[in-house]
Amino acid sequence: MDDHVGAGGLARLLAGWRDVAGPGEAGHSALAARITTLLGDGRLAVGTRVPSERELAVALGVERGAVAAAYDRLRESGHLHRRRGSGTWTALPAATPTAAPSAPVTPFAPMGGWVPGRRPDGPEVIDLAHAAPWAPMDAMAEAGARALAELAAHLAGTGYDVLGLATLREGIARRLSDQGLHTSPDEVMVTAGAQHAHALVARALLRPGDRVLLEQPTYPGAIDLVRHVSARPVPVAMTDRPGWDVEAITAAMRASTPALAYLVADHQNPTGAVMSAEARAAVVAAAGRHGVPIVVDDCLRELWLDAPGPPPLGAYAAAAGGGTPVITTGSLSKTVWGGLRIGWLRAPRTLLRRIAAARSSDDIATPVLEQLVAVGLLDRLDDIIATSRTLFAHRRDHLRAALASALPEWHAPSPPGGFSLWVDLGAPRSSALVEAAARHGVHLAAGPRFGTGGAFEQHLRLPYTLATDALDDAVARLAEAWDALGAGSPTLTTVV
Ligand SMILES: Cc1ncc(COP(=O)(O)O)c(C=O)c1O
Repeated sequence: MDDHVGAGGLARLLAGWRDVAGPGEAGHSALAARITTLLGDGRLAVGTRVPSERELAVALGVERGAVAAAYDRLRESGHLHRRRGSGTWTALPAATPTAAPSAPVTPFAPMGGWVPGRRPDGPEVIDLAHAAPWAPMDAMAEAGARALAELAAHLAGTGYDVLGLATLREGIARRLSDQGLHTSPDEVMVTAGAQHAHALVARALLRPGDRVLLEQPTYPGAIDLVRHVSARPVPVAMTDRPGWDVEAITAAMRASTPALAYLVADHQNPTGAVMSAEARAAVVAAAGRHGVPIVVDDCLRELWLDAPGPPPLGAYAAAAGGGTPVITTGSLSKTVWGGLRIGWLRAPRTLLRRIAAARSSDDIATPVLEQLVAVGLLDRLDDIIATSRTLFAHRRDHLRAALASALPEWHAPSPPGGFSLWVDLGAPRSSALVEAAARHGVHLAAGPRFGTGGAFEQHLRLPYTLATDALDDAVARLAEAWDALGAGSPTLTTVV
């Protein structure tokens, strides 16, 4: 990861920072607030050297005193620290209070922050930064009790199994096969969530400087991972319809010879788009011609809300003769609960052996108890997902209707599945809105978090995972925040 941001680069990330200064508030507060936001949502990595006050002042076209005051404030809050002789570096405050759950307090309320930051605390905060479900409590409790009872049978053994429990791999293989991706249990590795599967693949297959083809926009964790292993993202823009530009993907595979392509073909995060059957076949064929292995992230695949989509992308590789290595990843995080940390990857056996070897310096194996819980949940997964579909289709429609009435200038297409709307704000104010919304107690992820190069300042991902009354409350607060920004037309507030 690059540990230095230049004045020009930081000024680009700070675009529109003046817009959110509250009435009578000094400009340096808005500048400090934007830098805190960038750190909180990961666009500015912790441990990055920032430009000098003078350089940043020149790049922003403001008095040096404004930047100095903002840096002072950030040093006081612990977001910056000065290293003698080597400049000023980003940091996270040392004492991070335990986050209180947002919204109603239940034993299964989602906790945790938007990596690497944390969400604001307090009972009034509505968390729209995470697009993930709360756990189905009865099913979790039952599967947990059953798993505890079954654990005894596993204690007379080491518990280390790099691929995972045979019963769980059989259940996963059966589920994938039922969807049209014929899978044998020995092609499956159980992991601690889909993102762990991606990290293991990256560790096994990527070297520093390799290129990785990504959709633009995409899941922020994928962008972070590519950067973390010092690989280079090759973003290919999604289009409005049908979502994937197969010619652009093919051209990028030819021109950039990526070491991997990472695609979310079903209910893509954040757009919710589903790749057509024709596009699947064409992408697999192009990857075969150009020798590009594909990682297809299917963790949102089963969450269709209107009608099921085509078979998994991996099935098209098998149909084409298996020449293109396709690694399919999946997870119970979106269908059941992220806190379970159970995911998997399916790969051709030789590739799976390489990935398994890479795991010896990672976590070695997945906890047995959680795997047993997952076995119990797989038995009930169809019912759990059927309930989720009804619930989230209703919440999706509810959120769109609420937005259409309170914020008619926003455009929020209806996704065929997944958990969130990818909203076009009609103006490049996403980061400014995130800061304004925080003042109204709504925690959001800004559009640029989902892309590379500062794209998507005009977009916002809005999850519809919360109950409808919380969504109504959130929309009312968003409308106030948007209003405070000046109804979409950028305003210039005097600095300092
Ligand atoms: C597309 C996508 N892939 C992977 C993940 C991470 O999944 P897991 O919790 O299984 O690691 C997420 C979580 O938001 C996601 O949206």
